[in-house]
Amino acid sequence: MREGDIHVDESRQGEAIHIEQPFAPSNGLKMFLESYGCAMNFSDSEIIASIMSGVGYVTTMDETEADLILVNTCSIREKAEERVRNRLKEFKRYKLKNRRLVVGMLGCMAERLKESLLEQEKLVDLVVGPDAYRDLPSLVKQVNGGQKAVNVLLSREETYADVSPVRLDKSGVTAFISIMRGCDNMCSFCVVPFTRGRERSREPKSIVAEAQDLFNQGYREVTLLGQNVDSYKWNLDIKGVIKDSEQPIVRFAELLDMVAKVNPDLRVRFSTSHPKDMIDDVLHVIARHENLCKYIHLPIQSGASSMLKRMNRGYTREWYLDRIAAIKRILPGCALSTDIITGFCGETEQEHLETMSILKEVGFIMAYNFKYSERPRTLAERKFEDDVPEEVKSARLTEIIKHQRSYASVLIQAMVGKVYRVLVEGVSKKSTEKFYGRTTHNIVVIFDKGDLSVCDYVNVRAIDCTSATLKGEVTTDKADA
Ligand code: SAH
Ligand code: SF4
Ligand code: F3S
Repeated sequence: MREGDIHVDESRQGEAIHIEQPFAPSNGLKMFLESYGCAMNFSDSEIIASIMSGVGYVTTMDETEADLILVNTCSIREKAEERVRNRLKEFKRYKLKNRRLVVGMLGCMAERLKESLLEQEKLVDLVVGPDAYRDLPSLVKQVNGGQKAVNVLLSREETYADVSPVRLDKSGVTAFISIMRGCDNMCSFCVVPFTRGRERSREPKSIVAEAQDLFNQGYREVTLLGQNVDSYKWNLDIKGVIKDSEQPIVRFAELLDMVAKVNPDLRVRFSTSHPKDMIDDVLHVIARHENLCKYIHLPIQSGASSMLKRMNRGYTREWYLDRIAAIKRILPGCALSTDIITGFCGETEQEHLETMSILKEVGFIMAYNFKYSERPRTLAERKFEDDVPEEVKSARLTEIIKHQRSYASVLIQAMVGKVYRVLVEGVSKKSTEKFYGRTTHNIVVIFDKGDLSVCDYVNVRAIDCTSATLKGEVTTDKADA
């Protein structure tokens, strides 16, 4: 992960994040909360911390002194689950020392495995799926009363719109806002529709209010989160029929416009866009507002239409390239990043080469690359064979990473010499004399602290670069971007 990158994205999957929660009327009980997975899970942990602080739990960073350990888990690849399983075994050992200790598994793995970790492996006392966090206090109480507790019901309505999240980012600059939950796509490799349930959008006024509140607290950047943000819709039912004729229809383009208007000094990012649903209206709104960042994460998964069909992604190579052309036309200079899966069922050398060639053709500033990992219950598990040998998956992954790096480094080098408006985010990990911040393109820039403070905007001329980071000097010159 790059310096200062709190954009959890896929790069953070598998890495544990701990939430420290500074305020709460204590009941004397301590909770240790560990999160795995994507930004949405991280954002959910902020909701969990909020719900538990409501019943007096104080968060601790020391797992050995906790009365309650909650692990918010990810199922996206087998490795992510293995890591959690090992952690749970460790936590189980703490129970020998502290008989009052309650260990709970939350999130996607809880939803996928339901009672099994509780009954067969006896690793946890509590299993709670992503739509049941409001029930956590009573479930914990149930466990304290000597019973095991499970709630893995998925909901068609729950968005936690009224829960005010406890913020993790201690520097107080950037924050996540969850705008929708679940996913109605059925990409054949993906477990998310099974762990997160049906897609539903959060009430827009509560989103704008959360953004306004964050701005008032001093935050200067928000990232709107959903598995498929382009599919955001409010006041429309599943068939696209208006629900309440007195109320406006809000789609993603309108929502972006509303959040952008909170304040020109509040930067807005979003993740994740889906190529099949990304329409020009969204791009035109981004073009209209300077504070809507010129950076789009548009996962492609594969560059071959035949493979995209097996993946059930709902678009072809040509469609994807048409969306890229629209971005380049409407938002010149917009940075792009993507996700790639290597070694999906039946991947031929030709299909692999098509992925390599699209990387070159598009020019992504960043790509998150994954080896295919078969997930239970998915379409791919039922229909196809996971037949690409492990060594081939690894070799293709290495090849993709190598080529992608060289394409990205050309793009970064081309940024040297230009002036960027940068949001100051914190002290550089490498030098206490320097700050780091980001350009609208999500590129990290390192520069001297001078009289600047965190949360300031400053113009910085890029004077040098490493493979993914710019070095710069503060300037009074006008920004190019
Ligand atoms: N909703 C987002 C992706 C969420 S999952 C989208 O549609 O783009 C994040 C990434 O994990 C995916 O983009 C994909 O590249 C990767 N991924 C998902 N399932 C996977 C699997 N079974 N094996 C390997 N990588 C997977
Ligand atoms: Fe998974 Fe596809 Fe939904 Fe993304 S859009 S979460 S990859 S099913
Ligand atoms: Fe993982 Fe669930 Fe996110 S499976 S990637 S934590 S939605």
